[in-house]
Amino acid sequence: MSARTPAIVLGGTGYVAGELLRLLASHPYFDLAAVASDSQPDQPVAQFFRHLQPVLPHLRFANHEEILEYVTANPTTAVFSAAPHGVSAALIDRLLTAAEQAGTQARVVDTSADFRYASADAYEAVYKHVHGAPDRLSEFTCAVPEHLNALSTPHVAHPGCFATAVLLASVPLLALGLVEPRLFVSGVTGSTGSGRQPVAGTHHPQRHSDMYCYNALAHRHVPEITALAQAASGTQADFAFVPHSGPFARGIHVTVQATLHESMTTHELVHALREYYDQSVFVRVGGEMPRLKDVIASNFAELSGVSNGRTVAVMCVIDNLTKGAAGGAVQWMNRMFGHEETAGLMTPAPGWT
Ligand SMILES: NC(=O)c1ccc[n+]([C@@H]2O[C@H](COP(=O)([O-])OP(=O)(O)OC[C@H]3O[C@@H](n4cnc5c(N)ncnc54)[C@H](OP(=O)(O)O)[C@@H]3O)[C@@H](O)[C@H]2O)c1
Repeated sequence: MSARTPAIVLGGTGYVAGELLRLLASHPYFDLAAVASDSQPDQPVAQFFRHLQPVLPHLRFANHEEILEYVTANPTTAVFSAAPHGVSAALIDRLLTAAEQAGTQARVVDTSADFRYASADAYEAVYKHVHGAPDRLSEFTCAVPEHLNALSTPHVAHPGCFATAVLLASVPLLALGLVEPRLFVSGVTGSTGSGRQPVAGTHHPQRHSDMYCYNALAHRHVPEITALAQAASGTQADFAFVPHSGPFARGIHVTVQATLHESMTTHELVHALREYYDQSVFVRVGGEMPRLKDVIASNFAELSGVSNGRTVAVMCVIDNLTKGAAGGAVQWMNRMFGHEETAGLMTPAPGWT
């Protein structure tokens, strides 16, 4: 498929939506047709996201009725949801039902958690509320794009940002059978990971110039990481995950440690990681320790690792909003429409942020 496809974005004023708009505004194959907003309907997008004024000077936020019209009037629409979990599923269900009734097609990538689990029970056990569209769960696949070649469902649930970084670092270790299936993970995330609504504990004055751990060994993304690691590597593993709040806006740095089955050197470890991601354009494996500034605002992940012969430590950095959400979603949508995976995503990190 090479014709341009209209794209719509749900959850319009959120951080991930802003990043989706930035990426879609200059995408070679998707035309940003509309962005839904509950809180800012009919307001200029550039008034809310002032950095997008040069690329989206005229676009206005749409209400959900207008969004439905795009999906029913166009033969095919690419739908990106950046709505919160607990909200996204019902919004998507309504759009897909309208498309089905109109005889049109919509392909969805959801960045929320709503379609990441195989069953409503598994979802409800973690999120403590009733799933918004349980009958649609089987229409979604959840995977990091680098860990799944062939998609067998019409829609995709993008893994969470922490999950993306942890999986990029862990899956090669498990899939190649290098380590015992018990992984110890420390991760640090920037403040945009908590969304735009300031709450105590995630508010800038609380986080700035500070660093602290939260939800140690009890983060709600661990069941998601465990299931996706098993699907990608074929190995059931335990993840002991200790997340931290970092004093920066964008980015995630994770360190995964595990015990080697057989001794290997740092050189051999880095070589194995490099080979594993040989075909993955967006994953760079280097000998140097990865740094946030080399990936921020880009769709790239950087990995490296060290070994002392008994234990390995693999480090991974990504931008939570880009590779961990909006960029990964565009990467999936590129594939779903038969475009090159890299379309609209090759802009490098600015280097200084
Ligand atoms: N932030 C990250 O790093 C990150 C990474 C991976 C995945 N995600 C996921 O991506 C989604 C968006 O994340 P985000 O950080 O962009 O969130 P956010 O900044 O909090 O924005 C979410 C947006 O959703 C809309 N919304 C619709 N119904 C809502 C409701 N009932 N309550 C609150 N907002 C509602 C709001 O926009 P309107 O008022 O304009 O409709 C809001 O601005 C979430 O599901 C999140 O879990 C986030």
